Amino acid sequence: MTSETTTEEAFIWSDKFILGYRPIDETHEEFVDLVRQMDTAPDQDLPHLLSLFAQHAQAHFDLENKLMVDTEFPPRDCHIDEHAAVMKSIQEVLALVNEGQYAYGRSLIDELIRWFPSHADHLDSALAHWMCKRSLGGKPVVLRRNLQLR
Ligand SMILES: [Fe+2]
Ligand SMILES: [Fe+2]
Repeated sequence: MTSETTTEEAFIWSDKFILGYRPIDETHEEFVDLVRQMDTAPDQDLPHLLSLFAQHAQAHFDLENKLMVDTEFPPRDCHIDEHAAVMKSIQEVLALVNEGQYAYGRSLIDELIRWFPSHADHLDSALAHWMCKRSLGGKPVVLRRNLQLR
């Protein structure tokens, strides 16, 4: 997958993000929707939205970590470490945003928009292929039409 998300305007769920393993695709759609909501929200909504996003991120990373551990996915350690590092940043920034330091929240949102496409391309896609191979005996075939799905 070659998703080149270089602008915030481009951070909208579309089939360029689909990896072909439904549980991961569903949580990624939620990720993109929540980040976009935060990105377009006024500052005073950030504490609530970032708190919702932190819950999402924990569930998102727990899901992927569990898939990797349960199936003994070989390169799981660096992927699990990256989730832990991102989760730590989210919790730190949530504490700052709760004190009214919204600029930290804005920087985090920009960083998430920059981080997600390459994390999904390099780490989540390998996991999605691994899961599909286990259940179907092959890599997923994803047909992308460059359509925005919503
Ligand atoms: Fe993911
Ligand atoms: Fe991941």
